[in-house]
Amino acid sequence: MIKKCLFPAAGYGTRFLPATKSMPKEMMPIVNKPLIEYGVDEALEAGINGMCIVTGRGKNTLMDHFDKNYELEHQISGTNKEVLLDDIRATIDAASFTYIRQKEMKGLGHAILTGRELVGDEAFAVVLADDLCVNKNDGVLSQMVALYKQFRCSIVAVEEVPENETHKYGVISGQEIKDDLFRVDNMVEKPEPGTAPSNLAIIGRYILTPDIFDILEKTEPGKNGEIQITDALLQQAQSGCVLAYKFKGERFDCGSVEGFIEATNYCYQNIYLESDAPLQPQSTVKCG
Ligand code: G1P
Repeated sequence: MIKKCLFPAAGYGTRFLPATKSMPKEMMPIVNKPLIEYGVDEALEAGINGMCIVTGRGKNTLMDHFDKNYELEHQISGTNKEVLLDDIRATIDAASFTYIRQKEMKGLGHAILTGRELVGDEAFAVVLADDLCVNKNDGVLSQMVALYKQFRCSIVAVEEVPENETHKYGVISGQEIKDDLFRVDNMVEKPEPGTAPSNLAIIGRYILTPDIFDILEKTEPGKNGEIQITDALLQQAQSGCVLAYKFKGERFDCGSVEGFIEATNYCYQNIYLESDAPLQPQSTVKCG
């Protein structure tokens, strides 16, 4: 039903310079797995296998990551290190990847509009890889897909944030129609301190109905002179219905150093140490 997931991945990741000078920020590893792979796995878990990635200049390693590396694979074939490729191989086999380049950085709304040709005329998910979301057995996208099946309209994931942080997010207000689910009546991108309509901040998971593309075509630049998905969604909410869902699970803002470190510690404790694929195989085999 939702078959495609869009990943806006053209941004520069300036908050992590110099690490992101020549490496895409989406390739920053949380323990032993790049951020974008967590997002792709979350989409797969939600039953979505078409990954539509909006890239930009300097993002080639991102494409290489979701492809074979014959030389490396030949070298470690048959050794005890091969197990370290099991997860990414399974991900590559299960998903298809298409890419389009965003020529100019004109905001998240513009990045999503750039993905139109890859998505076509169907409802789709959006993952901002910076926001790492974890919830054992029922990922955030999977929770949202279940809601989409019921309500058939655009849905944004939200979480409560302290009042002094609302200026970093798109913030919604709305009527709670059932537990943790709101019908949006207002949405503001990065409100000035003290003016936020609530403390419910949008995080980087969306399900969007395809009429959003026509709205985005006509959306004027908003906050910071960029075309904002928040503004387009407000228009959708005013003429139809947009839901905001307070998801179950943990979310880490890996676009900030603090969030990145928290995510690393959390994933090391709760995912890496629990998995059976060790980072370092017990005995090593010389590869060349
Ligand atoms: C974007 C969106 C914002 C949302 C945030 C979540 O902002 O524009 O509405 O709250 O992602 O991470 P950015 O963080 O790209 O500035």
